Amino acid sequence: MFNIFKKDKINENQNTIDFEKPIPQHIAIIMDGNGRWAQKRMMPRVAGHKEGMNNVKRITKEANRLGVKVLTLYAFSTENWKRPTDEVNFLMKLPVDFFDVFVPELIEENVRVEVMGYIDDLPEHTRTAVINAKEQTKHNTGMVLNFALNYGGRAEILTAVNQLLTEQRNGQLTEEPIEDDKFSDYLMTGILEKELRDPDLLIRTSGEERISNFLLWQLAYSELYFTDLSWPDFTAQTLAEAISDYQARNRRFGGLKETKKGVN
Ligand code: FPP
Repeated sequence: MFNIFKKDKINENQNTIDFEKPIPQHIAIIMDGNGRWAQKRMMPRVAGHKEGMNNVKRITKEANRLGVKVLTLYAFSTENWKRPTDEVNFLMKLPVDFFDVFVPELIEENVRVEVMGYIDDLPEHTRTAVINAKEQTKHNTGMVLNFALNYGGRAEILTAVNQLLTEQRNGQLTEEPIEDDKFSDYLMTGILEKELRDPDLLIRTSGEERISNFLLWQLAYSELYFTDLSWPDFTAQTLAEAISDYQARNRRFGGLKETKKGVN
């Protein structure tokens, strides 16, 4: 839907970030289109994932440079296990290759790695790579690079509900109704600062316009931005366009006036 508006823009300045206006504090990205990117170039699908991984490095640096506080990347969903074994194995190796090379740069850039998802179900080498990356960057105070790995939005909500029920049964929690704020503590984004848990902006590449079980609770009031570019072709300029488009939106969070997150 937003693609239509984008094409109709007449103000050329809308493709550049206005640094007088707020930069989205939390950006989430569904990095789609790697397979098609590779196939168009007569390469195996996994070559697209490799280029996608290289692009994670470029966009991480750019987001950090722009002052984004949290960058959440959908790297592997709970549904992606349905893919051919070779592709799954390749995807499971990516975090190993990525962190092997990139952790020193992340430390230099003061970026902290976080991972949300069912980490215990990952192969040993993948789990070790992400745990080590978290450990090695845990003192960094800059942007949080938050990987969603073996993550699914419905599963996340069910896990939170079941955890709450268990705590109520054990008497660790009263039987009072659970409020919005409390519930968000139990979600996987509960590791983030309260005001940074919900993305301000969700970007999906490759022309698909759906959420695909990503951050179902957290995206309630996020601005959505879709681009036809495949993830490997998504550049710093595309990110600037998405942010500029975001800055032109009027966020009302269900109220009548433009307002801040959570304030109606
Ligand atoms: C969707 O594209 C993309 C994925 C399932 C994987 C995304 C992973 C990366 C970009 C690399 C992540 C990097 C690290 C460090 C973990 P698709 O394969 O569904 O593309 P298609 O729709 O063209 O088939």
